[in-house]
Amino acid sequence: MTREIVLLSGPNLDLLGTRNPEIYGTTTLDEHVARFSQLAAEAGFSVRHVQSNFEGDLIEAVQSARESAVAVVINAGALTHSSWALADALDTFNGIKVEVHLSNPAAREPFRHLSTLAGVVHGSIAGFGATSYELALDAVRRLAGTAS
Ligand code: DQA
Repeated sequence: MTREIVLLSGPNLDLLGTRNPEIYGTTTLDEHVARFSQLAAEAGFSVRHVQSNFEGDLIEAVQSARESAVAVVINAGALTHSSWALADALDTFNGIKVEVHLSNPAAREPFRHLSTLAGVVHGSIAGFGATSYELALDAVRRLAGTAS
Protein backbone atom coordinates (compact mmCIF):
# COMPACT_ATOMS: atom_id res chain seq x y z
CA MET A 1 0.00 0.00 0.00
CA THR A 2 1.32 3.46 -0.89
CA ARG A 3 1.87 5.61 2.12
CA GLU A 4 0.37 9.06 2.00
CA ILE A 5 2.06 12.35 2.78
CA VAL A 6 -0.30 15.29 3.28
CA LEU A 7 1.45 18.42 2.02
CA LEU A 8 -0.12 21.62 3.32
CA SER A 9 0.36 25.13 1.98
CA GLY A 10 -0.98 28.12 3.85
CA PRO A 11 -2.06 31.65 2.95
CA ASN A 12 -0.52 33.43 -0.03
CA LEU A 13 1.57 30.48 -1.10
CA ASP A 14 -0.78 30.19 -4.07
CA LEU A 15 0.94 33.37 -5.28
CA LEU A 16 4.43 31.86 -5.39
CA GLY A 17 6.14 32.63 -8.66
CA THR A 18 5.14 36.28 -8.56
CA ARG A 19 5.01 36.96 -4.80
CA ASN A 20 8.18 38.67 -3.55
CA PRO A 21 10.40 36.66 -5.92
CA GLU A 22 13.51 38.19 -4.35
CA ILE A 23 12.56 36.31 -1.15
CA TYR A 24 10.66 33.26 -2.36
CA GLY A 25 12.07 32.72 -5.86
CA THR A 26 10.13 32.32 -9.09
CA THR A 27 9.07 28.69 -8.76
CA THR A 28 5.28 28.38 -8.60
CA LEU A 29 3.48 26.37 -5.94
CA ASP A 30 2.37 23.89 -8.61
CA GLU A 31 6.00 23.38 -9.56
CA HIS A 32 7.06 22.84 -5.93
CA VAL A 33 4.24 20.34 -5.47
CA ALA A 34 5.01 18.52 -8.73
CA ARG A 35 8.70 18.12 -7.80
CA PHE A 36 7.85 17.03 -4.25
CA SER A 37 5.24 14.57 -5.54
CA GLN A 38 7.63 13.10 -8.13
CA LEU A 39 10.37 12.54 -5.56
CA ALA A 40 7.84 11.17 -3.08
CA ALA A 41 6.50 8.72 -5.68
CA GLU A 42 10.04 7.50 -6.38
CA ALA A 43 10.34 6.85 -2.64
CA GLY A 44 7.00 5.01 -2.50
CA PHE A 45 4.75 7.73 -1.12
CA SER A 46 1.64 9.33 -2.55
CA VAL A 47 1.04 13.03 -1.93
CA ARG A 48 -2.22 14.84 -1.18
CA HIS A 49 -1.69 18.56 -1.41
CA VAL A 50 -4.01 21.12 0.14
CA GLN A 51 -3.48 24.87 -0.26
CA SER A 52 -5.78 27.27 1.48
CA ASN A 53 -5.86 30.89 2.50
CA PHE A 54 -8.20 29.92 5.37
CA GLU A 55 -6.98 28.63 8.71
CA GLY A 56 -9.98 26.32 9.22
CA ASP A 57 -9.39 24.52 5.93
CA LEU A 58 -5.84 23.70 7.01
CA ILE A 59 -7.02 22.52 10.42
CA GLU A 60 -9.55 20.22 8.74
CA ALA A 61 -6.85 18.93 6.40
CA VAL A 62 -4.68 18.05 9.41
CA GLN A 63 -7.65 16.34 11.06
CA SER A 64 -8.31 14.27 7.93
CA ALA A 65 -4.61 13.33 7.77
CA ARG A 66 -5.13 11.54 11.10
CA GLU A 67 -7.09 8.88 9.25
CA SER A 68 -4.94 8.45 6.16
CA ALA A 69 -1.43 9.80 6.30
CA VAL A 70 1.97 8.68 7.50
CA ALA A 71 3.27 12.27 7.44
CA VAL A 72 2.27 15.91 7.30
CA VAL A 73 4.64 18.37 5.67
CA ILE A 74 3.45 21.90 6.27
CA ASN A 75 4.38 25.34 5.06
CA ALA A 76 1.74 27.32 6.94
CA GLY A 77 2.85 30.70 5.58
CA ALA A 78 2.14 33.51 8.03
CA LEU A 79 -0.15 31.24 10.07
CA THR A 80 3.15 29.78 11.31
CA HIS A 81 3.54 32.88 13.43
CA SER A 82 0.01 33.22 14.78
CA SER A 83 -2.06 30.04 14.70
CA TRP A 84 -2.24 28.18 17.98
CA ALA A 85 -5.29 26.38 16.57
CA LEU A 86 -3.23 24.88 13.76
CA ALA A 87 -0.57 23.89 16.29
CA ASP A 88 -3.24 22.18 18.40
CA ALA A 89 -4.50 20.30 15.33
CA LEU A 90 -0.99 19.14 14.45
CA ASP A 91 -0.48 18.05 18.02
CA THR A 92 -3.30 15.51 17.55
CA PHE A 93 -1.58 13.95 14.53
CA ASN A 94 0.61 11.09 15.69
CA GLY A 95 2.60 10.61 12.48
CA ILE A 96 5.65 12.37 11.11
CA LYS A 97 5.41 16.17 11.04
CA VAL A 98 7.84 18.46 9.23
CA GLU A 99 7.56 22.25 9.13
CA VAL A 100 9.00 23.77 5.98
CA HIS A 101 9.75 27.30 4.79
CA LEU A 102 11.34 28.62 1.62
CA SER A 103 12.86 31.60 3.40
CA ASN A 104 14.54 31.63 6.81
CA PRO A 105 12.00 33.33 9.09
CA ALA A 106 14.59 33.61 11.88
CA ALA A 107 16.62 35.96 9.68
CA ARG A 108 13.65 38.17 8.85
CA GLU A 109 11.29 40.53 10.70
CA PRO A 110 10.82 39.87 14.44
CA PHE A 111 7.17 38.80 14.02
CA ARG A 112 8.41 35.84 11.96
CA HIS A 113 10.72 34.60 14.72
CA LEU A 114 7.92 32.83 16.59
CA SER A 115 6.66 29.55 15.17
CA THR A 116 3.59 28.20 16.93
CA LEU A 117 4.22 24.93 15.09
CA ALA A 118 7.86 24.38 16.05
CA GLY A 119 7.01 22.68 19.33
CA VAL A 120 4.62 20.12 17.85
CA VAL A 121 6.59 18.99 14.79
CA HIS A 122 9.55 16.64 14.58
CA GLY A 123 11.61 19.42 13.06
CA SER A 124 11.71 22.47 10.84
CA ILE A 125 13.52 23.11 7.57
CA ALA A 126 13.84 26.72 6.49
CA GLY A 127 15.89 28.94 4.28
CA PHE A 128 16.87 26.68 1.40
CA GLY A 129 14.38 27.91 -1.19
CA ALA A 130 12.93 25.15 -3.36
CA THR A 131 15.42 22.72 -1.82
CA SER A 132 13.57 23.08 1.51
CA TYR A 133 10.82 20.85 0.12
CA GLU A 134 13.32 18.20 -0.99
CA LEU A 135 14.98 18.27 2.43
CA ALA A 136 11.56 17.94 4.07
CA LEU A 137 10.87 14.84 1.99
CA ASP A 138 14.25 13.44 2.94
CA ALA A 139 13.36 14.00 6.60
CA VAL A 140 10.08 12.11 6.12
CA ARG A 141 11.89 9.23 4.42
CA ARG A 142 14.43 8.95 7.22
CA LEU A 143 11.83 9.19 9.96
CA ALA A 144 9.65 6.64 8.14
CA GLY A 145 12.64 4.33 7.78
CA THR A 146 12.50 4.26 3.99
CA ALA A 147 15.64 6.27 3.18
CA SER A 148 18.17 4.34 1.11
C1 DQA B 1 7.09 31.36 4.57
C2 DQA B 1 7.64 32.32 5.64
C3 DQA B 1 6.51 33.03 6.34
O1 DQA B 1 7.03 33.95 7.28
C4 DQA B 1 5.67 33.79 5.34
O2 DQA B 1 4.57 34.40 5.99
C5 DQA B 1 5.22 32.97 4.20
C6 DQA B 1 6.19 32.07 3.58
C7 DQA B 1 8.25 30.71 3.77
O3 DQA B 1 7.99 29.70 3.11
O4 DQA B 1 9.36 31.22 3.77
O5 DQA B 1 4.10 33.08 3.74
O6 DQA B 1 6.38 30.32 5.22
